[in-house]
Amino acid sequence: MCGIVGYIGKKDIDGILIDGLKELEYRGYDSAGIATIKDGDFSEYKAVGKIKNLEAKMAQTKDDKSYNSALGIGHTRWATHGKPTELNAHPHIGDYSYVVHNGIIENYKELKDELVSCGKTFVSQTDTEVVVHMFEYYFDKLQVAKDAFDKTITRLKGAYSILLISKVAPTNIFFIKHGSPLAIAKSKDKEFFIASSETPLIGVATKVTHLEDGTSGVINQQNIEFFENSGSNKIKNIKWQELPTSKLSAQKDGYRFFMEKETYEQSDVIADTMMGRISDEKIVFDEIDENFFENINHIQICACGTSYHAALTGQYLFERLAKIPISIEVASEFRYKQPLLQKSSLFIAISQSGETADTLEALKMAKKAGLTTLCICNVDNSSMTRFADKTILLRAGIEKAVASTKAFSTQVVVLWMMSLYIGKTKNTINKTTLKNELKALKQTPKYLLVDDKMHQKCQRLSKRYLHGHGFFFIGRDIFYPLSLEGALKLKEISYIHAQGYPAGEMKHGPIALADEKLFTIALMPQSLLADKVRSNVQELIARDSVVLALSPQTFELADDFIQTKAGEHYMHEFFSMLVVLQIFSMELSIRVGNDVDMPRNLAKSVTVE
Ligand code: AGP
Repeated sequence: MCGIVGYIGKKDIDGILIDGLKELEYRGYDSAGIATIKDGDFSEYKAVGKIKNLEAKMAQTKDDKSYNSALGIGHTRWATHGKPTELNAHPHIGDYSYVVHNGIIENYKELKDELVSCGKTFVSQTDTEVVVHMFEYYFDKLQVAKDAFDKTITRLKGAYSILLISKVAPTNIFFIKHGSPLAIAKSKDKEFFIASSETPLIGVATKVTHLEDGTSGVINQQNIEFFENSGSNKIKNIKWQELPTSKLSAQKDGYRFFMEKETYEQSDVIADTMMGRISDEKIVFDEIDENFFENINHIQICACGTSYHAALTGQYLFERLAKIPISIEVASEFRYKQPLLQKSSLFIAISQSGETADTLEALKMAKKAGLTTLCICNVDNSSMTRFADKTILLRAGIEKAVASTKAFSTQVVVLWMMSLYIGKTKNTINKTTLKNELKALKQTPKYLLVDDKMHQKCQRLSKRYLHGHGFFFIGRDIFYPLSLEGALKLKEISYIHAQGYPAGEMKHGPIALADEKLFTIALMPQSLLADKVRSNVQELIARDSVVLALSPQTFELADDFIQTKAGEHYMHEFFSMLVVLQIFSMELSIRVGNDVDMPRNLAKSVTVE
């Protein structure tokens, strides 16, 4: 998740921008930069890696002068389009302007083509660079900076919060908020601060306003103007509120735990994952070209933990939609089983961190055996992304809680998109199926929304499930890997034993455990094998197991029931149940008093064997 800061005032602008960027480090980044105008003089610095690298560059030209007018913008970048390099770092520079951007500009390719045909030169691989060149293209025509900015933002599609400064308006910062968060704050000393979240504003400003989508404007030393409808209508009454005092709670955006925040933000994050990759007719991955899968007749996926469960989920989608044989293996087993590796196989490593030792070593084994390798990962510039032939980024933003949530949902969405991508290139699905799948994909974000009633029910139920001798999570078909993921979530944060199991398998032994102390979480979708699952659950109920049923339809026989969303597609039910499983395990962990974000014995990234 990129971070944006801006400042207008008379204090040490460099220091203020750097401090602001440091307050955004928690969001995760792989490069950073700032641009300033001090009494009309421009400076800009950019660096790959941590902010200390940026500070080292700035130290070479540090000055302690005070200025009548100082303004500036800063950015921490989490790579989505283009590798983490200095050229791709923000601010992006035109002939006389600078831009920082958070979000994804979906139509950047067509805008870039248009600007190149008008003679503009691009130096980066990013979507953001189109903004600064588009602004200067319109300024060269209109000769009014605000009109040029307003015209520019009418051309953008996607999610974007943007700050722009320019030599043609050296006392102004232009801003727009659309789809990505942006807050503006003011201090008692008549300074203005801008940031992607409240954390950099706490302690330096007193009042804040969180911009609504479509709000743009101009800030200068004396005042700030807000507009709507691409700058045409002035907004008169902006609501300012007191800034909170705690930075940590600001980093959690008011949620109790990072896991809670990351569970709630899945709906937004999934939209980013799909941004620019889904049209009405097909899937597009900028990272790979059309013939990437051409000679592939088998896919081998290796991963660990939650990423392994995403891989198992993907297996159902690949075989159903891409009609390609697929093998899934936990990386720690794959490494030592002397696997039969064929060059016609594609090897996919799935990893949130990109640093998991077992998965990295499995990737190296595949590469050494001459297989084409692909990494599905959340952290660019990680060991795996550097090693694999190609990488497809999750764009989930930093995931701080040890218990993985949004990484899982975005991994599954990438695998779903990939199965359709392969299905189209290999003609294994017809146009109607593809159209229906694409429509279902686009509807996915709403099934990941957490509603209050469901959350409160999980909170209430959690007290009933503390004293059993363990849990079974059961499901069939693609809901079986979901049951594994639900069981892992519960185990790793509540320390209560839980096992995911194929619902149809219970009668082959585990049902011997059924009694009034055995808790069963039954995933009972209506869109897939509903009758089969129902009879499996009835077998358990007949033997006194306590059953919590998750389903769009009430199931009276269950002891407890949480209603999930019905959907046109079984993946809608999948994601709706996923959110319940994440919230339920979190509420149980809270009730037993555990550290939800940092469970005992666990690390966020297992970089050792
Ligand atoms: C999941 O909640 C755990 N944190 C753990 O199983 C994790 O998924 C596993 O260690 C793999 O990590 P990776 O995705 O970063 O490779």
